[in-house]
Amino acid sequence: MSRKLTRRDLIWILPSGVAAGFFGWFGWRTVRILFLKERVPEPTWRDGERVEVARLEELEAPWAFKYFTYPTRFGELKSVLVRLPGPVVGGLSVGEAHFVGLSRICTHLGCTVNYVPDLEAGAIAYNYRASNPFLGCPCHFGAFDPAQGGKAVFGPPTLPLPRLRLEAAEGVIYATGHEEPLYPIERG
Ligand code: FES
Repeated sequence: MSRKLTRRDLIWILPSGVAAGFFGWFGWRTVRILFLKERVPEPTWRDGERVEVARLEELEAPWAFKYFTYPTRFGELKSVLVRLPGPVVGGLSVGEAHFVGLSRICTHLGCTVNYVPDLEAGAIAYNYRASNPFLGCPCHFGAFDPAQGGKAVFGPPTLPLPRLRLEAAEGVIYATGHEEPLYPIERG
């Protein structure tokens, strides 16, 4: 036997529904910020110009970095070269020196990410406690890990930063192409 909803019923049903919706949304958002990140695949390269990025001695130790731009059919791509303590898929190893080249265009909404070498400052600014330097986005505080090939590790972005193909010759590192698709300009 059913009975009609009274005004008194609505007094608790409506706030309960709103609260359930809020906590559901908040839970989903938390899972997305912390966990729903795409893995970094073997790269598919698109050939491009051969551009000198840095001499090897410019990045003497792990976590040294250098910003550069790379010409693409969409225009100059802001990019960063990072020296890593170990090899990474899609990166470059020259003896015991390991590097990765990454786009600096955030895969969330396209802001420019910055290299964050100071972990304490990064924890305060991004609310993200990293175990190594990362690339942080000032727009919505997304973070990407160069040691994982540019994987999104915190915040709204879920896609990794596209990589630049690197080559070395006679002590110089060159960029010779970029990963496809070039997120977020090209959506897969
Ligand atoms: S544009 Fe980078 S986190 Fe939103």
